Amino acid sequence: MRHFLQETDFSRAEAGQVFALARRFKQERGHHEKPLAGQTWAMIFGKSSTRTRVSFEVGIHELGGNPLFLNTSDIQIGRGETIADTARVLSRFVHGLIVRTHAQSDLSDLAAHGGLPVVNALTDFLHPCQIYADAFTAAERWAGPQGDLLAALQGRKVAFLGDTSFNMANSWILGGGLFGMQVVLAGPAGHKPGKEIEDLAKQSGAAFRFTSDPLEAVSGADIVYTDVWASMGQENEAAERRNRLRPYQVTAKLFATANPGALFMHCLPAHAGEEVTQEVLDHPRCVIFDEAENRLHVQKAILAMLARNRG
Ligand code: CP
Ligand code: NVA
Repeated sequence: MRHFLQETDFSRAEAGQVFALARRFKQERGHHEKPLAGQTWAMIFGKSSTRTRVSFEVGIHELGGNPLFLNTSDIQIGRGETIADTARVLSRFVHGLIVRTHAQSDLSDLAAHGGLPVVNALTDFLHPCQIYADAFTAAERWAGPQGDLLAALQGRKVAFLGDTSFNMANSWILGGGLFGMQVVLAGPAGHKPGKEIEDLAKQSGAAFRFTSDPLEAVSGADIVYTDVWASMGQENEAAERRNRLRPYQVTAKLFATANPGALFMHCLPAHAGEEVTQEVLDHPRCVIFDEAENRLHVQKAILAMLARNRG
């Protein structure tokens, strides 16, 4: 049974296949094959979502399947039923699980007990669907309509600024390594990537660098990336985080020090005036809505790959 809990659950070659399939699904939208025909995929969400929920629901429909959205506060998991029992029960009804929650270990538990493919729709630790869509967004610009998407990413530099010890930064560490990119994270010393991601990076051969100097990170970057300063679950630390992370705001002046042609990226939702200025969000090389659209095409490709590899 194949799962997509972290970036490296696909090999580099398979990531190339995901990108190629996503490009074809994008080009043939509305008239490609339907590999999820007759299947129902449950979406268990314990946190808010706009992009992830809508792109998965629409994507599953477009692949011929039926999405079943389950908010954790409406199902018995919210009243203490175990993850293991929930997985065993759902496996009698549905063909796959797409899960948004806090703990990455909840996903591994579901994967271990359900006998169903499990997809990570964001945890506190990783957001792999987002990073695949982001890398695809850059690759399709750099490779053009026919070019090799993975090759277009090779050696490119990503500068990630701000909260360098949470899901998006961790996902760039693993994803950037898999795609052959150079990843430099810039944040305050207290936001150094944690030991768990360091160990995973080592295991998968992903090299990354951490600095507290935003200018050094952005110099020579092909992608300048940031994320909110207070993620879901950290709302009560928002004021303190604003003070701490202020030096890492992506301003037009900072963005101008990246490589000519560099892209500005953000997973969204964005807080203009905090991690990024409105001027950068309005910049012609800001590709945030392409990233959001590509969630659909890339996740359809991921689901098609998992459906192909069932059993
Ligand atoms: N980027 C992202 O995952 O957005 P949502 O929280 O709206 O799903
Ligand atoms: N780091 C953010 C990402 C949202 C897509 C969060 O976890 O809230």
